[in-house]
Amino acid sequence: MININNRLKTIGDLVDSHSFVLDVGCDHGLLEIYLLKKKINIVGSDNKQGPLDNARKNYKKNKVKGELRLGDGLDTLKDEDTVIISGMGGLNIINILRKDIRKTKSVNTYILSPNNYIEYVRKYLVRLGYYIDNEKLVKDKYIYNVIVFKKGRKYYKKKEYYFGPILLKNKDKLFYEYYQRELDSSLIIKKLLPKNQYFRRYLINKKIKKLSKELKKEV
Ligand SMILES: C[S@@+](CC[C@H](N)C(=O)[O-])C[C@H]1O[C@@H](n2cnc3c(N)ncnc32)[C@H](O)[C@@H]1O
Repeated sequence: MININNRLKTIGDLVDSHSFVLDVGCDHGLLEIYLLKKKINIVGSDNKQGPLDNARKNYKKNKVKGELRLGDGLDTLKDEDTVIISGMGGLNIINILRKDIRKTKSVNTYILSPNNYIEYVRKYLVRLGYYIDNEKLVKDKYIYNVIVFKKGRKYYKKKEYYFGPILLKNKDKLFYEYYQRELDSSLIIKKLLPKNQYFRRYLINKKIKKLSKELKKEV
């Protein structure tokens, strides 16, 4: 088996073994190698030739054969039923999904791991007609979110978009660690914000209130 980090392994282990997968932004191709070795159908794609060349080299080194496609976002989608997009900013992920809504909606399952703007990603996918089937926090150097969206409608409260409905229900050790870090960085930002930045101060205070209430912490 190939040695991959916790984040990529978590993503790979969330893939249904019968699915046909497209990984948008495959870069090094390590997730592809992990899944190809498990006999799961996966195609890697990237909008730059360099990463694809690198992935091809890694395929060779690990003695796996698989397809790699060059192109922007979902332009490379053929008839795969599952799409993975990981290791990108949330707004970049949303931009990829916004480009061709009909194509975007043809996918049954999205496994997304945005680096930021996670609440926006949850809201965007729910508005498109997907629900959150699974979600996990995973720790490597940082703590990452991995979310599985499937076709269907579900209602979520405001708080669930922010914290994640499943993460909120489970509230494990990593949940507290992740949102405590969010609270700590928000308190630092508040300290650094000039007094006349009224709107930004209002937003950061709102965030601090939400986080401290959930973590049951006095600030
Ligand atoms: C930071 S790497 C993440 C690699 C891998 N998915 C992971 O999670 O480790 C981001 C990759 O996405 C690619 N990328 C960025 N925007 C893209 C787009 N619109 N379409 C396809 N690939 C894109 C970049 O070229 C880069 O190889």
